[in-house]
Order: sequence, then C-alpha cells, then structure tokens
Amino acid sequence: MAIRGVLRIGEVAVRVLELEAARRHYGDHVGLHEVMRDADGRAYYKAWDEHDHHSVVLREADRPGMDYFAFKVFDDATLVELEQRIRDYGFAVERIPKGHYPRSGRRIQFELPGGHLMQLYAHKDQIGNGMQLRNPGTLPDEGVIRGMRATRLDHVLLAGPRIADTTRFFLDVLNFDLGEELVDNDTGAQLATFLCCSNKPHDIAFILREEPGRFHHLSFYLDSIEDVYRAGDIMGKHNISVDVGPTRHGITRGATIYFYDPSGNRNEVFSGGYIHYPDRPHLTWDTTQLGHAAFAIDNQPRQSFFNVVT
Ligand SMILES: [Fe+2]
Repeated sequence: MAIRGVLRIGEVAVRVLELEAARRHYGDHVGLHEVMRDADGRAYYKAWDEHDHHSVVLREADRPGMDYFAFKVFDDATLVELEQRIRDYGFAVERIPKGHYPRSGRRIQFELPGGHLMQLYAHKDQIGNGMQLRNPGTLPDEGVIRGMRATRLDHVLLAGPRIADTTRFFLDVLNFDLGEELVDNDTGAQLATFLCCSNKPHDIAFILREEPGRFHHLSFYLDSIEDVYRAGDIMGKHNISVDVGPTRHGITRGATIYFYDPSGNRNEVFSGGYIHYPDRPHLTWDTTQLGHAAFAIDNQPRQSFFNVVT
C-alpha cells in the first residue's frame, strides 16, 4: 500500500449543548459505539469498522461547534518530519505529550489561517472492529452494525476566512492533493476547496466564510446508497432535523443526506463518489453552476447549506 504521510481524519471533537441528547443521537441513531467516558464527562465514540479506539469526542458546552480536529499520520518519523515542515512554513506548533488525550500518542497542534485548531498524531490504541484479525469473516456480531450503519468518520467541512491560504498549506506542507474547487466566476476567488490525502474524493474541505473557526459538518461513510436511504428512514422515524437530501453532490459525486444533531451541528451520511489518485486532474466548478456543484439532482443551492454553521 503506497499511502504514507498523512493517512486520514482520525478524530473530531464536537461541542454539544446537552450530552444525553447527543449520546442518543450519535450512539442510538447514527449507530456509533460509545467506548469511553472521561473524568470531565466527555463521551468517546467509534464507528463500527474503525480499528482505532475512537474518532468522535463529544463535550458538553454552552455553544455547539468544533473544539479541534486531528489527522492520523503513518508513523512517528512522519510526525517529526511534518512538525519541522510546519514550523518552517511559519506556523506556531504546540507539542502535546502522550497521554494528554486518552489512548493516544503525542500530538502536535497548530492553528489554520481560518481559525481552526488542527492536530496530527501517529498513534492511537487499536481495539478492532469486532471481527478477528485471522479469518475475520465478513460480518461482526449481530447488533454491531446498527442505527444509520456508519462505517467510519469520513471527512469534515470547515468554514472560515483565508481558505486559499489554508488550501496552499495542505498542498505544500501536508502533501494533500486538490481534488475539486468551487470558484467565483467573476473574480476567480476560491469559495470552497476539497482536499485529498488518500483515495477518497475528499478527506477534508473548506468553505469561505467571514467568521473564523466555524464548523460546517462532519460526515460518516455508509457502505451503499441504499444505506443512505435507510439512514433517511431513521431520521424520519426519530424526527431528526434534515437539512438537505437524499440527493447527490456534483462535487465528489457522492450520495448524501445532511441532518442536524440536537445541538444544531450538521452531520452527513455519505456514500459513493469516485476514487482519487494523485495524478487525477483537479476539477473546477464556478458559481454559474453553484446548484449543480452542491446538489446535482435538482441543481438547487440551499440557503441553509451555505448559511448555517456552528
Ligand atoms: Fe461532506
């Protein structure tokens, strides 16, 4: 396997207004598995097919949004190399010792030009996906795949200023590829960028917005478009607030539903999309095709999609 360097988004720390309502949402309805509570009351979750200990952390707070997000890198040598590159690029880097975050190795943390806190780490304890590593079979025990059948944390979309600077950092320093971009047809300015460090059509995305550090959504991957519709059935059954969908994105070509957790943080269930390779030419959409870029079945942009962030 040739993917080295930055591997994937491995953790997102979400602020919620009421932890118990959020636990029902992310645990019972999305179908994540709660693996730990800490002394401060935070709840830790993994999707069933993730091997690492957790990928979503919920913290009760007086406003929703995201505290930080973290990408896992291949090994500690990669972390050492990237820390130097980030410092050389001019960003201030904070070192966070092993054990500060539970079940996790040391991390480095820095602030992106758009005001988001990003971390990198090379180690997190692996607890498996419920199946053996030798002769694993194809299905975990009954009940492990549940709710919306989220298989993994897939990506986040973050909103803030200076996304061209943030994008340049991901390309030049972290070795991501630009998968797609949405540009203003009149000025050429980047309005949204979709960045890849793996074979996924995006591993993280940024959307331009004046206020720094805003959270647009976290997305969970489902195995099939049929599962996206089944997730929609669960949203209907439990009166979960739906933003958009089911539909398909023009950008990434993934099938999607956007919905909200009880605190107003946007979630997504996502499936399909193309496979990215580093030699794939990047795609550009412009604002004459804004609706098609966002939602490719009815080609209608939604005000809520562009305006609601936490
Ligand atoms: Fe998304």
